[in-house]
Amino acid sequence: MKRVGIVGARGYTGRELIRILLKHPAVRLTYLAATLDDPQPISRIFPEFVGQTDLACEKFTLTRAVKQCDLVFLALPHTVSLSVVPKLMARRLKVIDLSADYRIRNCGTYERWYHKAHTDLLNLKRSVYGLPELYRERIKKAVLVANPGCYPTAAILGCAPVLAAGCVDPKDIVIDAKSGVSGAGKKATLDYSLAELEGNFKGYKFAAHQHAPEIDQELTKLAASKVGVVFCPHLLPVSRGIFETIYLRMTKNMSLEKVHDLYRKFYKGETFVRVKPLGESPELKHVNQTNYCDIGLAMDASRRLLIVASAEDNLIKGASGQAVQNMNLMIGSPETTALL
Ligand SMILES: NC(=O)c1ccc[n+]([C@@H]2O[C@H](COP(=O)([O-])OP(=O)(O)OC[C@H]3O[C@@H](n4cnc5c(N)ncnc54)[C@H](OP(=O)(O)O)[C@@H]3O)[C@@H](O)[C@H]2O)c1
Repeated sequence: MKRVGIVGARGYTGRELIRILLKHPAVRLTYLAATLDDPQPISRIFPEFVGQTDLACEKFTLTRAVKQCDLVFLALPHTVSLSVVPKLMARRLKVIDLSADYRIRNCGTYERWYHKAHTDLLNLKRSVYGLPELYRERIKKAVLVANPGCYPTAAILGCAPVLAAGCVDPKDIVIDAKSGVSGAGKKATLDYSLAELEGNFKGYKFAAHQHAPEIDQELTKLAASKVGVVFCPHLLPVSRGIFETIYLRMTKNMSLEKVHDLYRKFYKGETFVRVKPLGESPELKHVNQTNYCDIGLAMDASRRLLIVASAEDNLIKGASGQAVQNMNLMIGSPETTALL
């Protein structure tokens, strides 16, 4: 049994991690932490856990984390992980970080988008980008996993087969993304209130969202040349789920059937990526509360435009489910444990 802790356990992704880990047969949840001053039973904070665990959530301290855990999930806001990871790594704990702090390879890019200098180059070099479908073998040996962002997961999985095969123009990619509000964490601001959201739909941070450099970095690796991506996120009036419509310009004369075949082959054997039959679109209702990313394909043949639809639950395949998928690889459990 591995002893596992969560720092940031009172947040949205922390809550999902608790739910998934409580049904995992090879791990024991031994430590929950957040910012609160006095410990409180997690079942009082989240009553759905009454009868499932007596564990208390307490203020994070390094001593307690090291004493209680073999592996720690950090479900902390961006830039906070940066001060916690080096301490945990120095005490030889394995870490899965859900923030962006160890995802961006270039420190200048990190500083530009997250407004803080990267102060932990040693661990940045050791970290592995936690997208199992692309980096499975490296994740198995990792001591620090940078769990991907929610928007980037859907975008990368949606583009990977055609970019890797070199049959689309890497300089001409448009990602039209929509997310439910839990993507922003448990913020209590006017923008996220029911009165503002209900019956509404809006875009935000067009070509200026902090996930753009992460998408850029990973798509560039796949294409083996610098990509040109326009990333436009929108806020859906629903609590969870991400749907991205991605437009890619074909450079090879391929039928939609051939492209579909390419996607099916690329994801053959992958439990958590489901390529839809032609003519069917993914839907949030089919992926929410699951660790699946569903991908649908269409083509405007006259303009050689490939249209990819990619959908996932932002809190599961886009965060906590994928983090557990990574943990399974790191501890040698079957990859799907507690996720189906
Ligand atoms: N939400 C998503 O869909 C999603 C998807 C992918 C990745 N992520 C990333 O995952 C991370 C967590 O996101 P979230 O949505 O779960 O955020 P959240 O709901 O805002 O929760 C953040 C948690 O971090 C805790 N915290 C903040 N500062 C802390 C500190 N110094 N020490 C200990 N705990 C601290 C908070 O404690 P209190 O409860 O005490 O305030 C809270 O429990 C973020 O980096 C986010 O970008 C989120």
